[in-house]
Amino acid sequence: MVDFSARDRLKLLGGGAASLILAGCGGGSPLPVPPPIGTVPPPPPVTPPAPPTSSSPLAEGFLRDHFRNNFEMGAAINSNQIRENNPSIPIAQAQFNSITPEYELKLDNLSPTGGPLNFSEADRVVDWAIENNMSVRGHALVWHESTPEYFLEGPPAQIRRRLESYITEVMTHFSDRIKIWDVVNEALSEDIFNGDQSVGPDRRSNWYEAVGNADYIDWAFQAARAADPTAQLFLSDYETENPLKRGYLVEVLQRLQARNIPIDGVGHQFHLRLDTPPAEVLAALDAVDNQFMGLVNHVTEMDVNCYIDRGVCWQTGLGCEPDLGTAAPAAILADQATLLRAVFDGFVQRSNLESVTFWGVRDGDSWLNFTPAVRSNYPLLFDRDGDPKPCLNAITDPAYQI
Ligand code: GLA
Repeated sequence: MVDFSARDRLKLLGGGAASLILAGCGGGSPLPVPPPIGTVPPPPPVTPPAPPTSSSPLAEGFLRDHFRNNFEMGAAINSNQIRENNPSIPIAQAQFNSITPEYELKLDNLSPTGGPLNFSEADRVVDWAIENNMSVRGHALVWHESTPEYFLEGPPAQIRRRLESYITEVMTHFSDRIKIWDVVNEALSEDIFNGDQSVGPDRRSNWYEAVGNADYIDWAFQAARAADPTAQLFLSDYETENPLKRGYLVEVLQRLQARNIPIDGVGHQFHLRLDTPPAEVLAALDAVDNQFMGLVNHVTEMDVNCYIDRGVCWQTGLGCEPDLGTAAPAAILADQATLLRAVFDGFVQRSNLESVTFWGVRDGDSWLNFTPAVRSNYPLLFDRDGDPKPCLNAITDPAYQI
């Protein structure tokens, strides 16, 4: 079982210096030739931005523009990075068009002990994104790991009222700035990891135990729709690429729709490993697209872990693969590029995939440098110096040879 509490406490992000030199595309276009009289001039040719090479820096907007007709490209950042002008911030500004505040919108940050909600850190990230013409993903209204004990005190009816008032206040505060919300995060059963598949699709979380069942999911979506009828509402979870977990997802979606619970889509975290089969990743998107009319897919927390640890490492922090060191082995970066190319080739073919977010910008930002063990990891599109990695080239340039 994955230790999410450990990983979420890591309000990390930071690391190496060095900044990405962002150059605008230069170069002139040929002089226009006037069309023969009486003909309609053809539209001007659209020249795709040149792919990056090791000798040319990434042009401003290259990444987001490459996928502009397919989906938004997002990254998780946090308020400390903005405050400190961390080198990941100019990269986020130049290459992504969607931002997820890494932890500022979680309940234990907005009100750790039950006092009035404090939006100052969340406002810092959200306002930065809006000033930079980016959309913002609200993450996450209900998550067992970020729910303090005080919030789950009392009988279910009282918890429900507390939840409704919380969701209403948060969504109202951001209603003109955030239109996409992860309403419930990681509510699906963990049984695939502990081997007991007998208890059904719902995670036996603090929420489930306090309410006595999974009705809190319904309450959260109903409150969210009422708070902002124009926002898109998501159920998000990890390992939807695992067929068993995917089965739970389908079961819960069927139940929500049968009860007319307002939901607009599924957020697939896609914390992948080098041995994740790309076909299973795409099957997760298709499971939603094919079976649930009207639901869209978002990828919400993507990264590719360069260690293939066994379960015991995630459970105890022991028996994890040895540290690869700070210089990423070329063979591993090549495997990562191959995996991400296959996955993105499938992504661009799926019209109901609207957004793809990576959980961080540079490799040094990632929670995977600290979880499940402290080691150098290389899970993202930009290296520690802010340079594009082979996996970025692989997903943006079909001619790039891995
Ligand atoms: C989960 C949460 C995220 C983040 C990551 C990594 O996937 O949804 O908010 O905390 O873990 O730490």
